[in-house]
Amino acid sequence: MPEVVSYALEGDIAVITVANPPVNALSLPVRQGLAKCFERFAADAGAKAAVLICDGRTFIAGADITEFDKPIEQPWLPVVVHQIEDCAKPVVAAIHGTALGGGLETAMACHYRVAIASAQLGLPEVTLGLLPGATGTQRLPRLAGVQAALDAMISGKPMTAKGAQEKGVVDAVVEGDLKTGAIAFAHDLLKAGKGPRKVRDIQIDASTLPTNFFADYRKAIARDTRGFFAPGQIISCVEAAVSLPYFDAVARENELFMQCMTSSQSSAQRHMFFAEREVAKIPDVPKDTPMREVRQVAVIGGGTMGGGIAMNFANVGIPVLLKEINQEALDRGMAIIRGNYEGPVKKGRMSQTQMDQCIALITPTLDYQAIANADLVIEAVFETMAVKKEVFENLDAVCKPGAILASNTSSLNVDEIAAFTKRPQDVIGLHFFAPANVMTLLEIVRGEKTSKDVIATCMALAKTIRKIGVLVKVCFGFVGNRMYFPYVREAQRMVLEGVPPERIDRVAYDWGMAMGPHGVSDLSGLDVFDKLNKEWKEKPDDPAYCRLITVLVAKGRLGQKSGAGIYKYEGRTPVSDPEVLAIAKAEAAALNIPQLEISDEEIIERLFYSMINEGALILDEGIAMRSGDIDVVYCCGYGMPRHRGGPMQYADEVGLDKVYAAMQKYRGRYGDLYWTSAPLIERLAKSGQTFAQWSASRG
Ligand code: 3HC
Repeated sequence: MPEVVSYALEGDIAVITVANPPVNALSLPVRQGLAKCFERFAADAGAKAAVLICDGRTFIAGADITEFDKPIEQPWLPVVVHQIEDCAKPVVAAIHGTALGGGLETAMACHYRVAIASAQLGLPEVTLGLLPGATGTQRLPRLAGVQAALDAMISGKPMTAKGAQEKGVVDAVVEGDLKTGAIAFAHDLLKAGKGPRKVRDIQIDASTLPTNFFADYRKAIARDTRGFFAPGQIISCVEAAVSLPYFDAVARENELFMQCMTSSQSSAQRHMFFAEREVAKIPDVPKDTPMREVRQVAVIGGGTMGGGIAMNFANVGIPVLLKEINQEALDRGMAIIRGNYEGPVKKGRMSQTQMDQCIALITPTLDYQAIANADLVIEAVFETMAVKKEVFENLDAVCKPGAILASNTSSLNVDEIAAFTKRPQDVIGLHFFAPANVMTLLEIVRGEKTSKDVIATCMALAKTIRKIGVLVKVCFGFVGNRMYFPYVREAQRMVLEGVPPERIDRVAYDWGMAMGPHGVSDLSGLDVFDKLNKEWKEKPDDPAYCRLITVLVAKGRLGQKSGAGIYKYEGRTPVSDPEVLAIAKAEAAALNIPQLEISDEEIIERLFYSMINEGALILDEGIAMRSGDIDVVYCCGYGMPRHRGGPMQYADEVGLDKVYAAMQKYRGRYGDLYWTSAPLIERLAKSGQTFAQWSASRG
């Protein structure tokens, strides 16, 4: 077996090479190999300096995340990095690809760093619910300064090689072959008589920091990092870097790292990391499935949704035709698109030229014939089957053979839609989430007859337009909305039982949701929800089901857009409305619904366990392939915080036995209709398994 870390002498320079594909993660054999090679380097009289370099597509991209669920095995990374730093001869890190997390920590333990221009360097541990735990929190502030280091570690965003050079993290950006450049750099050091240079010896000048710097920094990031544990820990580590002797601060970093690593937040965020990569794996659509070319897209319907969808393609340079039924609608659609682009331009996130280029790629049209040559057509029209029928019959008539015909339906039966054409193999659901130009989720709905090359093309296209595509099968509401219905149902029912909407929303928000269920209902429009309910053929036979929404819609309270819904609106600010409570009370009396004392814990259980139960049914029916896919849908499309890892991961964290027991409790109170546990929950609860284990066992 080839060694994962090898040692070779090139003249008087030791070249230590890591080869652990795909990303040279610091798995145990790599740490052992590094320890062995640096020991050899220290003892090798023929080696005057060392270059640490990596094979393959990248420098070390971090610790091996799969090892974090297992007991730590020595040598641990903090030990290895100090061994490197303690070398008596200079060590140069030669960086290409991505030096991330433990990778950058290893590079910062080297005495010098060179990188090629395309390299990226960063400490993204925060995205995994962790902190840089191999001296990164101590070294980056010494090299880049406290503020820049905190910004990099709290955002987790990488720096370019040039940016890193400007911050003092990289000593030289080399052109041409990296190894040759790094060896030349090492020779220059030797010629200049420069020896080892320890980052840990750099003193941080605390006197340059403004008074209350750390307290103010905590305040400044509080909103963006709400509910997350790791950011505060990172700040504490940097405070230690400023105020304690180096090794005491390293001990503090170690202690806080362990707190992060063993936290439920980090396991949830690590779960999300792998789940987002798993979604791309479709057992019956292998990676080498041929794909169709998509050079021209057409979007049918220039409303908010259609316009947002069109922007996704224009943003990556793919021309889009935007089709509407009359000039007025078309002008309105183009105006919305322009408005959407103006925001980022004003904020400096996009230049006027880029905006103009994107808009130039969107061609408005009223003519169906104009889309005849499109490779992909996405329908984003009114959500009723009758309208979809008309559109798909037209598409079938005009589109070229082999064009992919997609529906942006959020709930309707894609097979029924496909049957309006003579080419059901070319029909697929592409469910974008509003605002379509912003949200990262794309539910890709495979119909009974959708061909594999269409699926493969759409999965790849999701990546091209910078979305995460999750493949699901046909059912009412697919994965996301189908699971959202019970969540709204319980939120609504609790209002009838006497809980003010704002309390339910606050509890959901404190749990971590971006917005509470009632706020979301008002934002999306109560009429939208009401209409969906009407389209739902298997709607529960229950007069209390989302009764409040039905009554409010009948009173013209449609949500934010009409100035009142479940809340009243002052501008866009929701204000609780006693009238809604009175309506709820009257409806509850008419439906014989008792008023209850409901704890915060019960609010959480009813909102999320009802959703999780639907998720379990979805898994058993094969609508979603894995519990992680559902979690990706919820974290990327429904404002669930990554530190919960999605509803199914949350259920695994709570324990399915507890979820099952709570469901039994509510079944006792409310009967079988909503609270009969999904057979999968019952099976897993009884066998002590998790959704994740069940998903993994199915391959
Ligand atoms: N550990 C284990 N596996 C990893 C990994 C890691 N650090 N990074 C990537 N992988 C795996 C992925 O799961 C994927 O596996 P798969 O092919 O079986 O799905 C494979 O490597 C390729 O990864 P990507 O699909 O993500 O490849 P890309 O080319 O798109 O991206 C990357 C490459 C930018 C390096 C990206 O993988 C990435 O961001 N990795 C994680 C980087 C990171 O977070 N590092 C910090 C780790 S924590 C740490 O270092 C703690 C320390 O402070 C002590």
